[in-house]
Order: sequence, then C-alpha cells, then structure tokens
Amino acid sequence: MERIALGADHAGYRLKEDIKAFLKENNYYFEDFGTFDTKPVDYPEIAIKVATSIAKGVFPRGILICGTGIGMSIVANKVPGVYAALCHDIFTARASRAHNNSNLLTLGGRIIASELAKEIVREWLETPFEGGRHLRRIQQIMALEEKFIKKDVVKNGRLVIVDHPLIQHKLSILRDKNTSVKEFRELISEISALMLFEVTRDIPLVEKEVETPISRAKSFVISGKELALVPILRAGLGMIDGILRLIPNAKVGHIGVYRKPDTLDPVVYYCKLPKDIAERDVVILDPMLATGGSAVEAIKIVKEHGAKNIKFLCIIAAPEGVGKVHSAHPDVDILTAALDERLNDHGYIVPGLGDAGDRIFGTK
Ligand code: RB5
Repeated sequence: MERIALGADHAGYRLKEDIKAFLKENNYYFEDFGTFDTKPVDYPEIAIKVATSIAKGVFPRGILICGTGIGMSIVANKVPGVYAALCHDIFTARASRAHNNSNLLTLGGRIIASELAKEIVREWLETPFEGGRHLRRIQQIMALEEKFIKKDVVKNGRLVIVDHPLIQHKLSILRDKNTSVKEFRELISEISALMLFEVTRDIPLVEKEVETPISRAKSFVISGKELALVPILRAGLGMIDGILRLIPNAKVGHIGVYRKPDTLDPVVYYCKLPKDIAERDVVILDPMLATGGSAVEAIKIVKEHGAKNIKFLCIIAAPEGVGKVHSAHPDVDILTAALDERLNDHGYIVPGLGDAGDRIFGTK
C-alpha cells in the first residue's frame, strides 16, 4: 500500500483534512504530521518533518499544504533527496511525476478548491516516472546535491530497506502465524546473516598481497576495526547465531529493556558491554523496531560507553519507530528487511509478525 506523509500549516489545515478524507476513501495509508487546527504555526516546522521523513525513506511520498504552497516547497527542497513540486493544475501534477519524479506535492490551500486539489492528488499519485531522458536530468540534480550540500556537518543516519528477494521470501514465512517455533528461530538467524552484507558494506579494507598457485595477487582484507554486536534482550538474541557464523570474532554485549505494559516506556534492567566498545563499530540488534523506545534507550547506553559508529539492525520496522530513533539519534543507520504500515494500539507492528520474542522462544 502506498504510504504518504502529510502536513500543513494553519492556512493549509482545512484542505489537508479534505485530502485526508480522499486518501482514506482511496485506501492510501498516510501519517499526519500536523498541524491539527487553524492556530497559526510556522510552515518550515511542518515542512521539515515531512521532508526529512521522505529523505530518510520512511515515506516514499508526501503532500504539504500552506496558503500558497510556495513556502512549503521552498523549505522541502532544501532537504537533499526531496523533490517538491508546487502544482495547481492536473497537467503540472502529471508532468511533475512523469518528468521530474517529484516525491513531494505542495498545494496552496488559499488558491485551489478542494475538488480540484483531490484531482491533482489523484493524478500525482497515479502517474509513474517515465525515466529515459528524464532520468539523466534527475541524476544531474542529484549530482548538484552532492556538490552543494555539505554532508559532513552531521552524519545523516539512513534508513536502508534490505529487500533482496531471498530475504523477502524468508520474511513471508516468518510472518506466517503457522510457522513453527523451530523454523521461526532458524529464519530469524538466516535473515540476520543475509542482512549482514548490507550492514558491513562500508567497513574499511586494507590491501594485502597473497600468493595464488599461479602468481602474486593484490587482494583486500578487513582492516583492524572490529565489530561489537549488542542484542536487545530477549528477541535480539535470536539474531546473534547467524551473524556470529559469518563474523566469529565479533564481541557480544547485552542490553535488557522491557516496556512498561501501561505506558510502553522502556526500562533498562540489564547491561553488559565489551570493555573496548568505544573502539568498535557497534550493531544493535532487535528483530522488531516498533515504538522505538527500547532502541533509543539501547543506542543511548552504547553511546554513553563511548561508541561512535552505531547501526541498528532489525527485521521489521514501523514508521513510528524509525522516526523516533532518527529524531533521538540522527547519526544512526537503521537497516531493516521491511518497513511496515503502522503500530496498533498495543504497540505491535501491523501487519508485522506478532511478538518476535515469544515466537523465537516458544513462550506463547
Ligand atoms: C501563512 O499566512 C502563509 O504565509 C503560508 O501559509 C504560506 O502561504 C507560505 O508560503
């Protein structure tokens, strides 16, 4: 299901509510980033929330509405990876998708009537990017982003969806409620191991010469820096086996966090980390990134112990959890095999796979 991030200032609020009704009727899943009434608010505050959720990949597309749509598009287009188009007619909406591959639509709540706005939204959502010569131009825009935007001020944590077919296949079996505990445990371990390719994609290599049976060869080995794995108890334990099979020298720390059943707030009840964790790249493991509370807490603890380069590896993430982790720890990469729709009232991911801990350990 297409997922859309929505936002408006006070001047766009009413049109946003109409667009929401339209999206609901047409079975689009959306998240409303505010504002929630007609009290004056500053459009940059709303625009930046929606734009960053798109840049990080939490939402593939978004719609922003202010009085004219201009302020929203100016702000959103400051965020690398966001291509906002202000459209007040159907032709422009179509072209902004087909030619510009826009991932954000901005509208002026004081300019167009609700019915036309809905038609524009429909056209924009349904028109695919044409690619071809247009792709070349988009690549030129991307090159400009590289050139003009200083990336080294703050490392921007990415959301990486590791959607390799093998992983997706195994994930389907994992989701199935009829999968046995034994198979579930094996699959968690296998998927974690497969995802390791993406987790370790950027680890540094050093050159080394080796003697093959034929001649000398210039080859590469992983440089000194080593890994620390930190599973969040208890479900994170299920991910350890598969990863250790590939990186047997990694050290393993443990952080125990449980969620208070009434508030879902995280409480740390156990923490034992490798002494040299500050010198290691750290991968925190938890199959489910739901509310993000435990993840935020675990990352905080690991940072307090001096770790600098931290990744969070999960199997299924909810947009709410990704948002929470990235606002608390914008430098941390999140790697997941799937980004699901949402959380339900009990904090479970929908559609998700249920309680990963219970399914790994057979406790239900
Ligand atoms: C608010 O009055 C108005 O300036 C704002 O909604 C927008 O039109 C800015 O571009």
